[in-house]
Amino acid sequence: MHSFDKDADHVAVDKVLSYARERLLMDPIPLDGAQTEDYLKAAAGQTITAEGLGSTRAMELFEHTLAPACLSTDHPRYLSFIPCAPTREAAAFDVVVGASSIYGGSWMEGAGAVYAENQALRWISDLAGLPGSAGGVFVPGGTVGNLSALVVARHTARANAKEAGTGARPYRIAATDNAHSSVVSMAAVMDAEVCGVHVDDKLRLTGAELRKTLEENGPETFFAVVATSGTTNFGVVDDLASVAEVCREFGLWLHVDGAYGGAGLAAPSVRHLFDGIEHADSFIVDPHKWLFAPFDCCALIYREPELARVAHTQEAGYLDVITKSAEWNPTDYSIGLTRRARGLPLWYSLAVHGTDAYVEAIESTLEVTRFAADEIGRRDYLEAVREPDLSVVVFRRLGWGPEDYQAWTDRLLGEEFAFVVPTTFRGETLTRFAIVNPHTTKEDVNAILDTMA
Ligand SMILES: Cc1ncc(COP(=O)(O)O)c(C=O)c1O
Repeated sequence: MHSFDKDADHVAVDKVLSYARERLLMDPIPLDGAQTEDYLKAAAGQTITAEGLGSTRAMELFEHTLAPACLSTDHPRYLSFIPCAPTREAAAFDVVVGASSIYGGSWMEGAGAVYAENQALRWISDLAGLPGSAGGVFVPGGTVGNLSALVVARHTARANAKEAGTGARPYRIAATDNAHSSVVSMAAVMDAEVCGVHVDDKLRLTGAELRKTLEENGPETFFAVVATSGTTNFGVVDDLASVAEVCREFGLWLHVDGAYGGAGLAAPSVRHLFDGIEHADSFIVDPHKWLFAPFDCCALIYREPELARVAHTQEAGYLDVITKSAEWNPTDYSIGLTRRARGLPLWYSLAVHGTDAYVEAIESTLEVTRFAADEIGRRDYLEAVREPDLSVVVFRRLGWGPEDYQAWTDRLLGEEFAFVVPTTFRGETLTRFAIVNPHTTKEDVNAILDTMA
């Protein structure tokens, strides 16, 4: 397998790269869709064999059977969950990252990659208004980003309590019901407790409600507050300024989850919604959501990276050569040791296009979202649940129950026309557009809304 056979190796590599080239340049992109396991068993059969299938057959299987059984999250009418719509440059560069055998965990091994990733992180950090000394690391996704940040928050709070001799051992996180599901899941991983804070009438976490929760439950039991800048269901940005003020007053770590919405920092038309984010102790944004990078990529940034280094650095004799160096080793700022230089596709696309192109692309998705909200308001069979803050719009089809929404979703997907799944809010089934793909047009929006008449 590892012996060098120039001709055979060229054929094997060309086969993969030519498929990648074709997919990267495909226009239009097919929506495709899942198949049953029985179908895949019959169509693909046993793919792992003692002798191997050979590159021609394996690639054929992928191209004609497996890939079409995967939804294209970059399809312009894929509006469910949070789509992933990388620029062609970012997606293409992911191939380069895979081809280059770069170890992205340490400066010693990956200085060039780490330097480039840090410049991309700097752009995001500056958008948030964090100090020049802020820094962090690209991790696989928002879940790992939230976990890594909360581990640092707890480590720091307990170290501070120990130093002050208070005897406190904080174990709670304050967050609202609208925080992402990963906050509760990662709290369970940490054996921490999430203490719910009520939202205001705009579904936001506010300083006033946060104060009530802290005072009712004992502020010394908390080690972090999680605010969200762009909730997953509605795109709500919490009242970060008032939340930051209360965090400062109680000496609590403020983590801002901008996994989806953080990209809005770059858009002048919504930037004001994020006021107060400059006070965050840690902050995440997923470039695989609204910053046009491929899966999987989360920018995790700390106001004081040294606190993260202390909490996360793994110690072992075989790592001393790295950990005892003064250089920036990304692996020291999150859970995990080995890391792919997963920030490079974003870096490459940013370097090619410049940040103005990102501003323009994000604003274009906001414009399409506002158009969708207007169209929903104009049609007598639809009703918006809430005006969108960012690029998510949630609405109801008057007269429909849960089965009607599901049947509609199934029909659109069955016809490979669109992928729009139902959501629920306070017990009611609704539907939802998440518009992060600059290829999603006003015509796409109208075409989908027409199918609900
Ligand atoms: C606000 C928010 N936080 C965290 C996450 C989790 O991110 P990931 O799926 O990348 O782990 C998501 C995912 O949609 C999200 O919207």
